[in-house]
Amino acid sequence: MRGSMFKNGCRRCCYVMVDYLDAIGAGLILLDPTPLGFDFLPSELVERDELQRALAGRFSSIGHASGSGRAVITGPVGSGKTSLVRRFCDDVSRHLIGTRDIAVAHINCRNENTTMQVMHKIVAQMDERHPDRGLSSGELLASIRRLVAARRGHLIVVLDEVDHLLRRAGNDILYHLLRIDEDASSEGTLSLILISQEQILDVLEGAVISRLGASNHLRIPAYTRNELAAIASQRATLALRPGSWQDTHIDLISEAAAANGDARAAIELLDPAVRNAESDGRRELRADDVQRAATELPSTHADGLVDELNLHQLLVLLAVARRLRRADHITSGDIDQLYAVVCEEHDADARSHTTIWKIVKELEARGLVATRVAPVGSGRGRTTHVTMPTILPADLIPRIEDAVPRRRR
Ligand SMILES: Nc1ncnc2c1ncn2[C@@H]1O[C@H](COP(=O)(O)OP(=O)(O)OP(=O)(O)O)[C@@H](O)[C@H]1O
Ligand SMILES: [Mg+2]
Repeated sequence: MRGSMFKNGCRRCCYVMVDYLDAIGAGLILLDPTPLGFDFLPSELVERDELQRALAGRFSSIGHASGSGRAVITGPVGSGKTSLVRRFCDDVSRHLIGTRDIAVAHINCRNENTTMQVMHKIVAQMDERHPDRGLSSGELLASIRRLVAARRGHLIVVLDEVDHLLRRAGNDILYHLLRIDEDASSEGTLSLILISQEQILDVLEGAVISRLGASNHLRIPAYTRNELAAIASQRATLALRPGSWQDTHIDLISEAAAANGDARAAIELLDPAVRNAESDGRRELRADDVQRAATELPSTHADGLVDELNLHQLLVLLAVARRLRRADHITSGDIDQLYAVVCEEHDADARSHTTIWKIVKELEARGLVATRVAPVGSGRGRTTHVTMPTILPADLIPRIEDAVPRRRR
C-alpha cells in the first residue's frame, strides 16, 4: 500500500512530506485550548470573593417562594462583570436545586437593543417553541409570567451591556420587567441584574436607579497587576503542559496587561505566546514569546517613544534591553553595572545610582519597562526586577543605538 498511486498519478496525500504541519496537534505546550477561549467561564473566579459575597447579599431572599433580587453592576472593560454574574447565576441555580427552580435569561443588549427584541429573547430562552410574531409587550410579559409560574420557579433576567439598550430604547423595558407582578396574583417572579461599563449612570434615569435601589449598585474595580497574574496563572494551569511555563512569564503577561486592568488582555496574551513557542518547535515558553505577543497589543508604540528620550534615558534603556535579550529580568544592581559599560562605550559620563533609578522610573511611566519587587533567593532580602513586558528587546536595541549619536550632537 505504502506509496501507492491514485489513478490520476498522484501519490496518496498522507505520504507526502508535511513537516510544516508538525506543530499542529503536537501539544508541545498547549494541552487544551478551551480555557483560553473568550467564552470560557472558570468554575472558580480569581480574587473576587468579596464581590461575589456582595452580589449574593442582594439575593438573600431568592431561596423563598416569593423572593427576588436586583443588582446593577458597573466597572471598566475586562473587569469581570459578565463572568461575575454568569458564575453567580450558575452557582445559585445549582445551590437552590430542590428548593426553587431558577431559570436564567442572559441577554446581550449590544445584539438585542430594542424593548421588543429583549422581550422576545427572554421568552425564547425559556421556551424555544414560543410563537414570536404579533405579540405586544404586555402579552410577552404575560407569557414570561406564565412560563415561570408553570415551572413554579423564578427567572433571573440579566441585561448585559445594558447601556446599548437604554440609549436606543429608553428605560421602558425596566419598568415592564420590574412591574411584572403588579396587576397579577403573582409574586417574586423575576430578578433583574443590569451590567454596564461605567457610563451607565449617565443613561439610567435617577428614578430607575432608585427603583432598583441605589444600595444594589456594585462598582467593580479594574484588576491590579497581581490579580491579573493570578488570572493568567489559573488559565495557564488549565490549558498548558505543566513545566512548559514559569511564573516569570505570567509576570510579564500581567505587566503588559496592567495598564488597563483588563483580564481579557492578560488571557489573550497566552495564546499567541504559546503559538510563538510551538511554531519554533519548543516545549517551553520563553520571555520573548510573550514580549512578541505583547508588541501586537494596540497600546504599544515603542518607535515614537524612543524618539522622545534624552541621552541618559536611552543609555539606561540600552543597558536594560541588552540584558533582557537573554534574560527575562534584570536587577537594579546589574543595571548600574551594564549602564556604566554602555556609558564608556558611548563616551558619556555615567550618572549616580539615584539618578539611574529615577530614569528607570521615567521609563516605566512611559510604558517602556516595568518594575517589581522580588525576593532574593529564599531569604528575607528584597530586590527590584526590571522587565520589558511589551517590547521585544532585540528590536529595540538597534533603534536606541541609532538614536544615541543623534542625541549627542
Ligand atoms: N476573576 C476572574 N477569574 C478568572 N477569570 C476572569 C476573572 N475575571 C475575568 N475573567 C476572564 O476575563 C475575561 C473578561 O471578563 P468579562 O467578560 O467578565 O469582563 P467584562 O467586565 O464583562 O468585560 P466587558 O466590559 O468588555 O463586557 C473572560 O474571559 C473572563 O473569563
Ligand atoms: Mg461583559
